[in-house]
Amino acid sequence: QRDIPALKDVLGFTIGTAVQRPQTLGEHGELLRRHFESVTPGNQLKWDATEPREGEFTFAEGDHLVDYAHANGLKVRGHTLAWHSQTPDWVFEGTKADVLRRLENHIRAVAGRYKGRLYAWDVVNEVVDENQPDGLRRSKWFQTTGLDYIRTAFRVAREVDPDAKLYINDYNTEFPRKRRALYELVRKLRAEGVPIDGVGHQLHVNIEQPHASEIEETIELIAGLGVDQQVTELDVSVYTDFVQSYPEIPAALLLKQGHRYKEIFDVFRRQSGHLNSVTLWGLADDDTWLSTFPITRLNAPLLFDDRLQAKPAYWGVADPA
Ligand code: XIL
Repeated sequence: QRDIPALKDVLGFTIGTAVQRPQTLGEHGELLRRHFESVTPGNQLKWDATEPREGEFTFAEGDHLVDYAHANGLKVRGHTLAWHSQTPDWVFEGTKADVLRRLENHIRAVAGRYKGRLYAWDVVNEVVDENQPDGLRRSKWFQTTGLDYIRTAFRVAREVDPDAKLYINDYNTEFPRKRRALYELVRKLRAEGVPIDGVGHQLHVNIEQPHASEIEETIELIAGLGVDQQVTELDVSVYTDFVQSYPEIPAALLLKQGHRYKEIFDVFRRQSGHLNSVTLWGLADDDTWLSTFPITRLNAPLLFDDRLQAKPAYWGVADPA
C-alpha cells in the first residue's frame, strides 16, 4: 500500500474526500494524508449538527476535523449552509422574515466560526428541480421565502467569509434537463449580482450511468457561465437500481468499476481547465452512505476497499494509461 502512487501526485487538480465520522486517526488518517489534499466534513457542518436548537451552536465535531485537516496540510470544503435535509423543523416556523433571520444568524455563526479556513462553501445544496416549470425545488425554504433564501445565503456568506469560494451544489447535474435548469438559475442569479462563484456537481453515479459524455457536456455548458466548477461528492455505485443487492461484490464488477472510474477521470483530465477540484464521497468502502441509502445493502463505490486496500477503481484514477 505504501508503494502505490499518491493520488495527489498524479492529478492536475485538487483531489479530496469526505470524512463522515471521527476516523481521522489511525489507518484512515494515513490514507487521507497520503492521497488527498482536501477534505469535506460529510455531516459535521450541516444545520442539524451545528445548530440543533435555535441559537445553540455545537462546533466540536467540525472543529475537530478542520483542525486535523489544517494540522496536516489539507484544505477544507465547507458543506453545507442551506439544504432541505438534515435541517430541524423549527427553522421553518413563523413568517418569511423569521425564516430568513434564522438563515442569516446561522450563516453568521457557522461561516463566521471557520472564516478564512475553508476554501469553498456549498452555500446552497440541491435547490434545483427540473420537473417544476421554474426549475426550483419546492423545499420548505422555497415555500416560505421563494428565491430569497438563496439570495440571502450567498450575500451573508460572502460578507462573513469573503475569501471562501461560494458554490451552488446539486446532484444529477449531468442529466440534460437538470443541467439546463441549473444553468438558467445560476445565470439569472448572477445577473442580479448574487455572489455565486461556482457550481458543484455531486456526481453520485453508478457503474453504467450516466454516459461520461453527459458529464462532459454539463461541464462545458456551465463553463459558458464563467464560473468555477468542482466535483463535490463523487462515488460510483455498483448497482443500477434500488432493488438489487449482493452478499459479496463480484470481482468482475469491481474491474468494470475500475474502467468506469477511468472514463470519468478522463473527462476530468480533459476538462481540468474548468474544474479545480474533485472530491470523493468517502475514503474507503467501509464508510459509504450508499450502504444505507436508499436501502441497506452492501455497496462498494469508492477507491479503497473496507480493508483500505486500493481497488481497480483506484488504478482507474491513478494510472490512466
Ligand atoms: C449524506 C451523508 O453521507 C450521510 O452520512 C447522511 O446520513 C446523509 O447525507 N448529497 C449531499 C450529502 O449533499 O450531504 C449527502 O451526505 C449525500 C447526498
